[in-house]
Amino acid sequence: MTQARSPRIAIYPGSFDPLTNGHVDIIERGARIFDSIVVAVLANADKKPLFSEGERVQIIRDVFKDHPNVQVDTFDGLLVEYAQRKNASVIVRGLRAISDFEYEFQMALMNRHLAPGLETVFMMPAEQYTYISSRLIKEVFMLNGEIDGLVPKTVEERLHAKRAKKG
Ligand code: PNS
Repeated sequence: MTQARSPRIAIYPGSFDPLTNGHVDIIERGARIFDSIVVAVLANADKKPLFSEGERVQIIRDVFKDHPNVQVDTFDGLLVEYAQRKNASVIVRGLRAISDFEYEFQMALMNRHLAPGLETVFMMPAEQYTYISSRLIKEVFMLNGEIDGLVPKTVEERLHAKRAKKG
C-alpha cells in the first residue's frame, strides 16, 4: 500500500515593493511545481518601503485571486523559523542574472546552516523579465518613464496614484 505523502509547501519570500511581472512569473512557475506556495512579504524591514505591508499583500492577493494554491502572508524574524512554522520544505528564489548569484548563494547556504532540512530552489523567470527589479520600476516610474508590461495593472494604477499624490 502506498503511503500518502505530505503536501509539498514552498515559501517565496521577498520585499515585493512592489510586485513585478518577474515575481508573478516565478510564483506561477512555483504554483505549477509545488502543492502550495506561500508568498511571504517581509514585514518591518529597515528600509522604508514605497508600498505599505498591507498594500503589498493586497496587490499579491488581487493578482493571484484565481490561484487557490497561492497564499499570501507576512513574516518577520528569521525566514527559516517562519518556514518551519508553515511546515514548508522549500524556499523559492528567483535568479535573474549572474549578479544575483553571490547574494543568493550566501543566503541559501546560511539558511541551510540554520535549517539543514529546508531546501532552496532557484527558478529563472522568462527572459523578458530578467532585467526587471522593484527598485528600477520605482525609480523609472517616479521619473515619468514607461513601465507598461513590466508590472501587473493594479501595481501600475497604484503607482499612478502615488505619483499624483506626490505631485
Ligand atoms: O526581495 P528581497 O528583499 O531580496 O528578499 C530578501 C529576504 C526577505 C528573502 C531576506 O532578506 C530574508 O530572508 N529576510 C528575513 C531575515 C532572515 O532570515 N535573514 C537571514 C537570511 S540568510
